[in-house]
Amino acid sequence: MIEELKAQTAEFIKKTLKVDSVDLEIPKNLEHGHLAYPVFSFAKTLKKAPPVIAQEFSKALSEGKPEYVESINPLGGYVNVLFKNEFLQAFLFKKISENENKLGYSSRGQGKRVVIDYSSPNVAKPMSIGHLRATVIGQAIRNLAVTQGYEVTGLNYLGDWGVQFGKLAWAYMNWGNEYPFKEKPFESLYNLYVRFHEDAEKNKELEKEGSLVFKRLEENDPEISKLWKMFLDISLKEYNRIYGLLNIKFDLIQGESFHNKDLEPTVDLLREAGILEESDGAQVVFLGEDKPPCIIKKSDGASLYATRDLASAIYRKKDLKADKILYVVGVDQTLHFQQVFEVLGKMGFGWSKDCHHIAFGMYRFKDIGRMSTRKGNVVFMDDVLTKAIELAKKIIKEKNPDLKNQDEIARLVGVGAIVFHDLLGDRVKNVDFDWDRVLDFEGDSGPYVQYTIVRCKSILRKSDILPKFEKTLNTKEEQELVNQLLHYSEYLKNGFEHFKPNLLAQYLIDTCRAFNLYYAKHKILTGDAALVPSRLMLVKATETILASGLKVLGIESPAEM
Ligand code: ARG
Repeated sequence: MIEELKAQTAEFIKKTLKVDSVDLEIPKNLEHGHLAYPVFSFAKTLKKAPPVIAQEFSKALSEGKPEYVESINPLGGYVNVLFKNEFLQAFLFKKISENENKLGYSSRGQGKRVVIDYSSPNVAKPMSIGHLRATVIGQAIRNLAVTQGYEVTGLNYLGDWGVQFGKLAWAYMNWGNEYPFKEKPFESLYNLYVRFHEDAEKNKELEKEGSLVFKRLEENDPEISKLWKMFLDISLKEYNRIYGLLNIKFDLIQGESFHNKDLEPTVDLLREAGILEESDGAQVVFLGEDKPPCIIKKSDGASLYATRDLASAIYRKKDLKADKILYVVGVDQTLHFQQVFEVLGKMGFGWSKDCHHIAFGMYRFKDIGRMSTRKGNVVFMDDVLTKAIELAKKIIKEKNPDLKNQDEIARLVGVGAIVFHDLLGDRVKNVDFDWDRVLDFEGDSGPYVQYTIVRCKSILRKSDILPKFEKTLNTKEEQELVNQLLHYSEYLKNGFEHFKPNLLAQYLIDTCRAFNLYYAKHKILTGDAALVPSRLMLVKATETILASGLKVLGIESPAEM
């Protein structure tokens, strides 16, 4: 798309002006051109003011300009290049017809593998809204990686090991028969969990009981192992229901327990590297002054979250053959990942620089305080999705009461609204959750993008004329829209490079704005008949790009709404 034209134009400038490298920028105002070549850096060597240089360069470049260039003009210290409308439109529409499925894709990442750890909930607990973020941001980054040609392994690293499973098993053995495990397995499991922790606050003996049962689990006691497996199955069933709702896919589900066998070898590696030290009976690695030491083994010999993450990072590098390892996890775990990556570096693993913590902020709800799964006062992902779907249904009923398949459409709109809202903000910031904004069909929302797609589809459906590029479109709004559409691929690239799906989400909003501005001002089907096929082609291009972009963000769009 635009970067191909950028590369071609840079090549032309290089040749004509005999310069080594050319960096082109995008002018803010389309009237100035599609690309701009800044010439400030020549002022010193040429001993001339940038505007004079821009003038001379423009003249030289204009003489031999390629046939797709309309004009080359100086403006201040820039040489502005404007492409021919006809050429741009033919170029865009050809792309649209050729690769609807891989529109804007690149082969940049070919032959390289990205392992992305996302969602990764803790077994026996409902996914919190934090896990919703980890899930949808991870899925979007995974899809962005695919557009850049990478091989991708999407990994769900379940929190499936630790003393809490001893506690839960103890609770199940003692109180399990009081709960409706047959009818409501997951709810029962979670209620047991909450009860154990509430009781343990009053009765300190319970903690000890839990630890003893966990010890049995670590020693592979068949009775406890069987319970553990049951907890895992019950939880996965519930998670899969929610993943289905969100259309989330993983390539690998591999929990923390998978690395039990790797822990001792990892400790050995640390020892061999000479970085393991004793501190108050615990085994630790001391880090730079700004960080607390990374604890590898507690004084009672128990391993820690960090030990497992060291083992799993090595596994991802060596066995999964990762070239990049990404962790989509809340910002509250920043120190943990800094420690893990630094320890990897100290172990001599240069590839620790290819590990990235993709952090995100917290959601804040007005009526509910900070979340704590322990206490049972927590906002669950499931509740938020259910509420969104209900609200979407209500809005659809008001706006379009005769619509068929209202349930399915409400699901697409409700879920789409939540996911889009999640991805639109800068991920690192905390978000104040506001239902009105999330579902606003006219605001910067998922439903707004879906609605624009539906509008395009309905225009295309209404006409018997086939979309086809016949006559060049010359209004300002059409040119703006064509230009906007041509930039799609850049947002895929930047979205992945910076691990920022919000760049793509914002691009889609801007594209909707450009389309709706055009739609408000010009008649598409009833205007100048000779222009209708081209205009329909522009509608089709808009629809294709919006739908492809939404899909990369993990959102589907309904046929009607
Ligand atoms: N289970 C953890 C949690 O819910 C997230 C795990 C993230 N991945 C990792 N490799 N540490 O907080």
